[in-house]
Parts: sequence; structure tokens; C-alpha cells
Amino acid sequence: MSVPGRFIAFEGGEGAGKSTQARLLAEALRARGLTVVVTREPGGTPGAEAIRALLLSPPGEGWPPEAEALLFAAARADHVAHLIRPALARGEWVICDRFVDSSRAYQGGAGGLGDEAITALHAFGSDGLRPDRVILLEGDEAALAGRLAARGEAADAIEGRPAEYHRAVAAAFRALAEADPQGFARIDALGAPEDVHARILAALGDLLP
Ligand code: TYD
Repeated sequence: MSVPGRFIAFEGGEGAGKSTQARLLAEALRARGLTVVVTREPGGTPGAEAIRALLLSPPGEGWPPEAEALLFAAARADHVAHLIRPALARGEWVICDRFVDSSRAYQGGAGGLGDEAITALHAFGSDGLRPDRVILLEGDEAALAGRLAARGEAADAIEGRPAEYHRAVAAAFRALAEADPQGFARIDALGAPEDVHARILAALGDLLP
């Protein structure tokens, strides 16, 4: 009997170290003999990557909030149909850098569209697929901002929104995690990457074969 695939999503604000931790987790799982797919949102498939470019560098005057939420949901629907569900069906582990809870926190919370609208779009677009666990990386706002500045990359259309928007994103993530303590593991993102990685492995202990 094949071991069923597992779906892990990394969430958090900008500069939380999601990509690094997704990579470290994938390496640890592969060392245990598991087949792992690492992917990201918005993106992950050719169709979704094309939508990503539209979202992060909007042509014209920028998307109205509703259109932005629809584009994220459309990208996700393609990613789920063409990459995530097939990998899970093959018994693989899927590690995704951001998933629907980013839409709930950014568009639903900080963007003001509300959780019901985002959840409805996800139900329609991706049949409501949920990760087996969400790793929420959290840290002090100033420390995370410092990390981001050290990266020295130009901010995209969403990252470049005011501090107040990003504070609302962090608060929305916190509220989602508090409402679903089984589904979310809140992880302190500050400290050495290998220490954060150890916290993440511990939080996934019950899912590991
Ligand atoms: P990403 O490339 O993951 O940025 P970062 O490396 O900073 O985490 O995501 C791009 C931006 O898109 C980021 O600012 C978060 C935002 N986003 C949403 O607003 N809604 C979503 O559903 C997703 C997946 C991302």
C-alpha cells in the first residue's frame, strides 16, 4: 500500500523565510525517502505563473480588490488541478510556499473582502482543497522588515503596500491560526534557519511516516 501524499503550506508575511524553510523541509523529507514536490503561489504551473506576472506587475492602474482575489483564485485553480492534486494522488508530499490562507489574510483580511468571499472562491475554483497542515511563520514586525531590506529586492505591487496593510495581514493570519489550532502550527520565524527548521519538523511530527 502506498503512503498517502501530504500537503503542507507555508504562510506568513514578507521576510518570514518561507522559501528557505520550504527547501529545508523538502531536503529533510527526501532524506527519509519521501518524494517531495516544492511549489509556490501565485504560480507553480505555466498558467498560474502567467497570472502571477499580472498580479505582481499589474498593467494599467492596478486591479480592483475583487479582480485581484479572482486572479489569485484562478491561478490557484490551475495549480491545484495540474500540479497539486496529481502529485498527492501519486502519494507524493507537496510543500507549497503560500496557499489559500494568503488570500484569506491579504485579500480577505487586509484587503477588506472578508473571509466568506475568499472561501467561496476557493470552494468554486479548487473544490476547497486544504493543506494537511499550515506552517505559519511569525516574527516581530521590525525584525522581519529588516530581513526583507537586507534582501535588497524591489518590492512587487503587493509587498510595496503600506506597513498598515502588512500589519493587518499579520493580524489576519493570527486570527486564522487561533480559529483552527489543529490545522495551523504557529512557528517563531526568528533565529537561525536550522533552529526554525527544527521547530517545523517537531510541528509535523504526527504526520511523518
Ligand atoms: P511571494 O512571491 O510568495 O512573496 P514573498 O516572497 O514576499 O512571500 O508572493 C507574492 C505576493 O503575493 C506577496 O506579497 C503575497 C501576495 N499574495 C496575496 O496577496 N494573496 C495570495 O493568495 C498569495 C498566494 C500571495
